Amino acid sequence: MHAEDLLRRYLEQRRDQGEVELVLDTLSVEDVMQIIGAARRGRADAAPTPPAPGDWRHALRSAGAEVSTATPARRPLEPAPLEAPTAPAALPPDGLVVGTEGNELFGGELAHCQTIDDVAALIKGCRKCDLYRTAKHPVPGEGSAAARLVCVGEAPGASEDETGRPFVGQAGMLLTKILEAIKLSRDEAFIVNVLKHRPPGNRNPLPTEVDACRPYLIRQLEIIRPSVIVAFGTFAAQTLLDTKLSISKLRGAIHRYHGIPVVVTYHPAALLRNPAWKRPTWEDVQLARRLLDGVRK
Ligand code: URA
Repeated sequence: MHAEDLLRRYLEQRRDQGEVELVLDTLSVEDVMQIIGAARRGRADAAPTPPAPGDWRHALRSAGAEVSTATPARRPLEPAPLEAPTAPAALPPDGLVVGTEGNELFGGELAHCQTIDDVAALIKGCRKCDLYRTAKHPVPGEGSAAARLVCVGEAPGASEDETGRPFVGQAGMLLTKILEAIKLSRDEAFIVNVLKHRPPGNRNPLPTEVDACRPYLIRQLEIIRPSVIVAFGTFAAQTLLDTKLSISKLRGAIHRYHGIPVVVTYHPAALLRNPAWKRPTWEDVQLARRLLDGVRK
């Protein structure tokens, strides 16, 4: 069949389906132009002037199709035009909240912190949640600002609250051994918690406390830019990875925090309660070691 007849038949089918304006969903304008161009070249009596590029109405008309210039009638499936509401609608309910009103990302105090010590100074005066009222000392984190490995824990316990230093109690001693097992001293790493003040009685951090404190951790990681992060325990893993998945689901994968590999493992305090988790923790930190050594998947 001649290309022009093919095109006419196609258009008739579309019109029989109730379309008053051509909707080029299976043929692009270029396709149509090409068909018409071929048709015109094949016709001895064809007018020599090609249609202007993009002027498909003109092109179709010269191929013999009837093309209306009138504004098309609305097709039945099109949504009705929006009408102005007669009374202002009530505001929708509150949605998800990302970040805090401190606006750290948009020029707040934290954005001006250039060093780990700058961040520690801000943490010292932090009043964003009530934990400072019951805590003895803030625990901003410690180690090398040039660390290639950052260890993230949950929150200071009693010993940390006393000293202002992270992971110095029983769980901390185990963390030191874990680091030694992958040939790192505490000083070579940076050790930090999600919360910088101790929750009373070592209770779990509240979501509002995590939200208030998270920007400090974000800025610390931005400044240090480590090669690998190890998240110790549920709170660290869930905060960094913005997930509710459990440790057992998060272990054994290389996650990414803004491109930085994140290895998730059990919290040292959990290992003290459940020595069966020592072996998997060992495997997890060996994975961190391999990543530090540049082994890629
Ligand atoms: N547990 C943590 O998560 N962090 C500490 O600093 C001490 C115990």
